[in-house]
Amino acid sequence: MSTVSFEKDIAPLFNQFRASMMWRLDLTKYDDVKQNADMVLAQIQGGMPPPPYPPLTKQQVAMFQAWINQGFPK
Ligand code: HEM
Repeated sequence: MSTVSFEKDIAPLFNQFRASMMWRLDLTKYDDVKQNADMVLAQIQGGMPPPPYPPLTKQQVAMFQAWINQGFPK
């Protein structure tokens, strides 16, 4: 997978869920997502966001995994 950018790829994907998760972390804030990356990955692999929202696609989960593997590019 080509280089994944937090600002261009991850934050726009998570932005629609930002308000729902503010009690736990800011999904559009680089440091928050980086520090919680393992938990975010586990949650999206486990079906987060919950119904009635559609789960993220396999491609979207793979993109987040790639972002971790690439060392969290901004
Ligand atoms: C640190 C990572 C995360 C944790 C621990 C977490 C945990 C939770 C919990 C406990 C809830 C409420 C209970 C439930 O309905 O399951 C919830 C709701 C929700 N989460 Fe997350 N979540 C995380 C990441 C994410 C991510 C990455 C997204 C988006 C892709 C997301 C989107 C949502 C949405 C849309 C809701 C529903 C809120 C509502 O409808 O009121 N969460 N989350």
